[in-house]
Amino acid sequence: MPAVNGAAKALDHTTALEVLKNDYAERDGLDIHTLIDSKRNGGLTYNDLLVLPGYIGFPAADVNLETPVTKRISLKTPFLSSPMDTVTEHNMAIHMALLGGLGVIHHNCSVEDQAEMVRKVKRYENGFILDPVVISPNTTVGEAKALKEKCGFGGFPVTESGTLQSKLVGIITARDIQFHDKLDEPVTDVMSTDLVTAKVGISLEEANEVLRKSRKGKLPIVDDNGNLLSLVSRSDLMKNQNFPLASKLPESKQLIAAAAIGTRPEDKIRLEKLVEAGLDIAILDSSQGNSMYQIEMIKFIKEKYPGLDVIGGNVVTRDQAASLIAAGVDGLRIGMGSGSACITQEVMAVGRPQATSVYNVTRFARRFGVPCIADGGIQNVGHIVKGLAMGATTIMMGGLLAGTTESPGQYFVSREGQLVKAYRGMGSIDAMEDKKAGAGSKDAKASNAGTARYFSEGDRVLVAQGVSGSVLDRGSLTKFLPYLQAGVQHSLQDIGVPSLAELKDAVEDGKVRFELRTASAQAEGNVHGLHSFDKKLYS
Ligand code: IMP
Repeated sequence: MPAVNGAAKALDHTTALEVLKNDYAERDGLDIHTLIDSKRNGGLTYNDLLVLPGYIGFPAADVNLETPVTKRISLKTPFLSSPMDTVTEHNMAIHMALLGGLGVIHHNCSVEDQAEMVRKVKRYENGFILDPVVISPNTTVGEAKALKEKCGFGGFPVTESGTLQSKLVGIITARDIQFHDKLDEPVTDVMSTDLVTAKVGISLEEANEVLRKSRKGKLPIVDDNGNLLSLVSRSDLMKNQNFPLASKLPESKQLIAAAAIGTRPEDKIRLEKLVEAGLDIAILDSSQGNSMYQIEMIKFIKEKYPGLDVIGGNVVTRDQAASLIAAGVDGLRIGMGSGSACITQEVMAVGRPQATSVYNVTRFARRFGVPCIADGGIQNVGHIVKGLAMGATTIMMGGLLAGTTESPGQYFVSREGQLVKAYRGMGSIDAMEDKKAGAGSKDAKASNAGTARYFSEGDRVLVAQGVSGSVLDRGSLTKFLPYLQAGVQHSLQDIGVPSLAELKDAVEDGKVRFELRTASAQAEGNVHGLHSFDKKLYS
């Protein structure tokens, strides 16, 4: 190039894009394969890398987060909650599904309790109270008043047998009993019998409209014979949000239900009850999934329940993944030792940094069309995006969701005066002792035939792979999950890809570029140099 005044002659500015267009070697950063070159870089965690920005050519709200969780089932958002007893019971599972994700119900409880939770997810209909408090005609006014005090509301349907699925005979309201001082009289003396009801099958919008017009407080939903099936309440009208992303199977009105089981012989009986309750996806919950027990269980399930999807795991290597794929899994769960309450890597000397695990397993699994969950180690939106960029189709979270109102347990005030909820690893001594004791369950105690999650629950000496602790209050999932969703959409906009599917392709062919992050780069990327600050993440 001829020199002009000692400097190289500048190229015509209009060719700037052409220069980089197809010549990736000229471009900044690393392609993913060079980034995760473990011979050169060792195993990487999410914090060890960054994604370089691309071109923004669309609004963030247009970014499509639809993604498969198994070979057969896709979700509108890539978020899963962990099968842990401080994270996912029916309330979390229902709200995760309503918001477009999936909550995996834990199995540290009796078969009956877990099956009941699955049933609650399947029966859930937004806005319809499926288990209203029902009273019988023999209930006295005094008892109804006491019930009102206990429940905090005063409208009770009265049916012939005092249960659901029985003929509706009246409704008692708080006003009916408020000034009635003959406490021994039956509620039938004061209840309203001019009932406005609706037939089962009515939509929530229609039910709301009937309620509005009738000026009644409650709308009982009945079958053709007048048996009570559910209730819509006026006080819930405002709360009856729309959930356009709700996770449902095509042609189904029910939410998708997923639950975890172990690989012991008694788990086959557990699974039978879960399937009866309507289970759609079974997750085989093991810290090291590549075992003869799990392989046998996958084959058993695929043969006995061909309509049920099975997710195997956990795995972190291609070899582990190959065994489970060969056995017939519909999805894989990746992670060993990266969880926030986990001490597996420390105690067992086994595991793998999560970014490297996700890259390797997903590279292999995608050749067989098997979607993968990146499980554990997620502390923020950035980690979610990195898990997805490494190749995961969905992301599973424990600690990040344990502080929401929808997780099991009560909030309490920590020694430092902050509102917190308990969060414990399922391999913590506390959780394993509950498992060993059967957690009040009627099913068998943990045994060594087959395995529980940590292969230790049935032993005389329990070897902990997790800790018990607490996490900060995060408010309701109905705000927190949409925040995660919007955060991921903004991030993909920055990267310049309009969907998760396109993120995968652009990463694979080297368009999306990465950079390793030194310790000082990590410090620079965090708040620094401030005297004090508030870290409010969303409003
Ligand atoms: P988190 O989102 O970082 O809190 O990680 C949640 C994940 O940690 C779960 O989905 C499990 O895979 C894993 N996990 C749960 N309990 C334990 C444990 O006691 N030891 C090791 N890993 C655990």
